[in-house]
Amino acid sequence: MMKDNSFLTLGIETSCDETAISVVADGRRMLSNVIASQIDIFKNYGGVVPEIASRHHLENINSVLERSLEDAGVTLDDIDLIGVTNGPGLVGALLMGVSTAKALSFAKGIPMVGVHHLSGHISANFISHPELEPPFMSLIVSGGHTEIVNVKDHSVIEVLGGTRDDAAGECFDKVARVLGLGYPGGPKIDRAAKEGDPDSIYFKRVMLEKGSYDFSFSGLKTAVLNYLNSQRQAGKEVRREDVAASFQQAVLDVIVRKTMDACLENHEDKIVMAGGVAANSRLRAMMEEECRKNGIKLYYPEPVLCTDNGAMIACAAYYKYRRNGADGLDLDCYPYLEFQA
Ligand code: KG4
Ligand code: ZN
Repeated sequence: MMKDNSFLTLGIETSCDETAISVVADGRRMLSNVIASQIDIFKNYGGVVPEIASRHHLENINSVLERSLEDAGVTLDDIDLIGVTNGPGLVGALLMGVSTAKALSFAKGIPMVGVHHLSGHISANFISHPELEPPFMSLIVSGGHTEIVNVKDHSVIEVLGGTRDDAAGECFDKVARVLGLGYPGGPKIDRAAKEGDPDSIYFKRVMLEKGSYDFSFSGLKTAVLNYLNSQRQAGKEVRREDVAASFQQAVLDVIVRKTMDACLENHEDKIVMAGGVAANSRLRAMMEEECRKNGIKLYYPEPVLCTDNGAMIACAAYYKYRRNGADGLDLDCYPYLEFQA
């Protein structure tokens, strides 16, 4: 493809175990989306090992970049903006993306902006749904985060609540591990739960104080462990599908209730889901049902854009650049980074 008048953003994402680079036209049109996943490597460890993840990013990043430009039919000289995740995430992993972005920005004179990973997850929806515009209520549920935020405009976000301990995805992963379902646990629980009875075992729904949009999931993980141990000690057989379904229902009852309350109390008429757990089929079905009852429109990205990718980072970078301009070459990366749009 010859470059036309489109504004091309290169989005780079390396915050965890995916080396992902995309080219996105005019903030919303995905021209390429290359993702080198390390899931197969970390299956053997039962989770991500930060140092190993960084090394794989280093090995993969140049070829992922080349393929991404090639798939889009462009060269680096056609790129107008570089967006890169600079937090939160694993610091060694983030450094690989940020160093690459800086090198390309410096060598080619292309402006660069740092993107908050969660702002990226929300933006995946702008690519999947070209008509979607703020304001809306957003639920971000991933391996590292569970947040309810009010997106008032592009790059204008108010955080209403978040997890006080484990993230929802982390909880899915840990429970899958104790059930022997493998890594990553979210999709495995999703599948197993379809064969199980969600009402077979009662796990407490932790709602916290009235009016709070915060979450706490660490007790639920312990409750599942206690249940498994007590069954084992009593010599009783455990149906993994029933545990998966009952656990999943306990997590989702809380998430769906709080997201709906936040939406209704803040008078929004759209809910936008984002992050790896937004791919969960039961969560989608429950939210569809609640939104239908309350006259709210529901959005979520296609599955490949729910988990980490470069396109969502390119989209968020495009809007941030239009509002705030570029970052300097002194851009740093942060394992913990306060939500910023
Ligand atoms: O957004 P993501 O790719 O990475 C982070 O930024 O954390 O999310 C990964 C998380 C993992 O915890 C994974 O188990 C979970 O998303 N996940 C799911 C499903 N697909 C992925 N959780 C529940 N159901 C799913 N279908
Ligand atoms: Zn993510």
